[in-house]
Amino acid sequence: MCGIFGYTGKKEAQSLILEGLKRLEYRGYDSSGVAVQNGTHHIFFRKTHGKIRNLEEILKSHPLKGTTAIGHTRWATHGTPNTLNAHPHLDNEGEIAVVHNGIIENYSELKETLKKQGVRFRSQTDTEVVVHLVAKYYRGDLETAVRQALRRIRGTYAIAVISSREPGRIVAAKLDSPLVVGLGREENFLASDVSALLEHTKRVIYVENHEMIVLSKNSVRITDLAGKPIDRKPVTIDWDVSRAKKGGFPHYMLKEIFEQPGIVTAILRERVNASVIRFDELKVAPAEFKKIKKITIIACGTAYHAGLTGKYILESIAGIPVNVDTSSEFRYRNPKVDSGTLVITVSQSGETADTLAGLREAKAKGALTMAICNVLGSSMSREAKGVIYTHAGPEIAVASTKAYTAQLSIFYLFALYLAGIYRTLPSASIRRFLKELFRVPSLMQKVLDDYKRDAKDWESNAHDFNRRYHAQLEKYFSEASHERKRSPNGFFMYLGRGINFPNALEGALKLKEISYIPAEGYAAGEMKHGPIALIDENPWVICLAPRSSIYEKMISNMQEIKARGGILIPIVTEGDKEIHRLKPLYSIEVPRVEEIFSPLVTVIPLQLIAYCVAREFGEDIDQPRNLAKSVTVE
Ligand code: G6P
Repeated sequence: MCGIFGYTGKKEAQSLILEGLKRLEYRGYDSSGVAVQNGTHHIFFRKTHGKIRNLEEILKSHPLKGTTAIGHTRWATHGTPNTLNAHPHLDNEGEIAVVHNGIIENYSELKETLKKQGVRFRSQTDTEVVVHLVAKYYRGDLETAVRQALRRIRGTYAIAVISSREPGRIVAAKLDSPLVVGLGREENFLASDVSALLEHTKRVIYVENHEMIVLSKNSVRITDLAGKPIDRKPVTIDWDVSRAKKGGFPHYMLKEIFEQPGIVTAILRERVNASVIRFDELKVAPAEFKKIKKITIIACGTAYHAGLTGKYILESIAGIPVNVDTSSEFRYRNPKVDSGTLVITVSQSGETADTLAGLREAKAKGALTMAICNVLGSSMSREAKGVIYTHAGPEIAVASTKAYTAQLSIFYLFALYLAGIYRTLPSASIRRFLKELFRVPSLMQKVLDDYKRDAKDWESNAHDFNRRYHAQLEKYFSEASHERKRSPNGFFMYLGRGINFPNALEGALKLKEISYIPAEGYAAGEMKHGPIALIDENPWVICLAPRSSIYEKMISNMQEIKARGGILIPIVTEGDKEIHRLKPLYSIEVPRVEEIFSPLVTVIPLQLIAYCVAREFGEDIDQPRNLAKSVTVE
């Protein structure tokens, strides 16, 4: 969480930092700030609570001049999200400034010691100890002072530090929080994530743990913490900058929902050639997969739901036992994994702290590890033995959509790839599966086209969606005050079975994340064991009921809900007549698709429902409260 951005070069830094922070705002948005060197004896800074637009306003009326600067957008861990706790933090002389992403675990003992030495603390943050330590060790060389300060620190960090006495220089360091250097011409950049750099350069250097960077406009020097130089070649990022922009959509989330068919198509085209599946970057030989007896998938949030779907896919296609864990549980329960286990981490960012820790735990236990992740060069992609990239492009909306369907697509291909290695399926079946999979993006597109139909422009989409799909929902919306929305009566249930069960969890997560309406997902078969007690006229029950081998079972579950006065909103295969007998509030149709691939199609209405509901209530869709895109702290 938190985003940091640094610039040193010939241009005025203020607007570059603001732009960089805006791109990183998904990482945290409760306060922000910027510190600039301007050739005087002091660092000049502005900071404020709330979103970056607040900082922008302040900078408009009180601009900062200077061509070397660091900025920060915060997701609070220690200390309430107010202006005082916003970064940058300065030493008592106002000559050194620090921005930090991570947690300094031993900050309270360091704070006590520093206070006894006469240091005055202004904030409640863990970060402030860093700047005072650097100031304490400063003898005219910032790099040495940062190095000495880091020796005292326990915890995680990506930091950037400037001193008014060393014009044009930024010193940075990393341990377990992401940091990337962007290489320009007579200018260099630092950021938490490549998406903030794409506007300026595609040549980047990923900073590794326990490394320090000294940045000036014409040089980038990397050393280890002892000062030993490190030689690292830059990599070139193939993401297009336009993919990190809204492209005419009112929200990143809607844009990313609409990108999905194209992304799935691109994944299939990239990985499949004449029915041969290739993962060029994988770095794990087929012989190594042959030694594997079971798979454990670990992930958080939406990626965890992709992992749960992955279990159904891998077990039914590749015939291998799969266990799925949330990373935060896996890492602390002495998991039984060994050299016969393939541990797959699934992560959009490749930086989620718990998943990364789980990956390390799995490695320490001798497991074969593999990351499915989106961000090129991320920590997981570097630390796992093998990696498969989802290549979904930058995902900016905090609520994940396109990363999910990209992860599912990779699971299908990986399962078919393993099926080839294990010979669990004859080649003819693999070819047939692939043929069907190639058809899926057009079915996903059909759901989106239905959504778009009649829409005059993107701005009116949410309303149109509600009108067409949500004739009744509108009534609910217009009646619903915010009190009603937050009352315990206004909640949603999502039910699914088999391979669509994880989508029920994902649909509920999407709705809670961005609309703040209580929503829970259940396996439909579990209803009788508790959740059915919640059924009366209040919850709206969204049921994933496409044509499948367990369709009849879903119908029975829906009947049980109906019999208790429940309100049904089923998602069904187009042309389903049977559903009308249940008198649903309304039903949403999706095109017919082979059962195993149905999650790629059925998740789209769920994403759109969450989007429309949040939009109807005027919520901040791309940056929901209290959340951050990339959770790099425990
Ligand atoms: C956060 C985000 C979720 C995401 C989860 C895992 O909670 O808000 O959208 O699914 O982290 O992130 P990852 O980058 O590991 O997929």
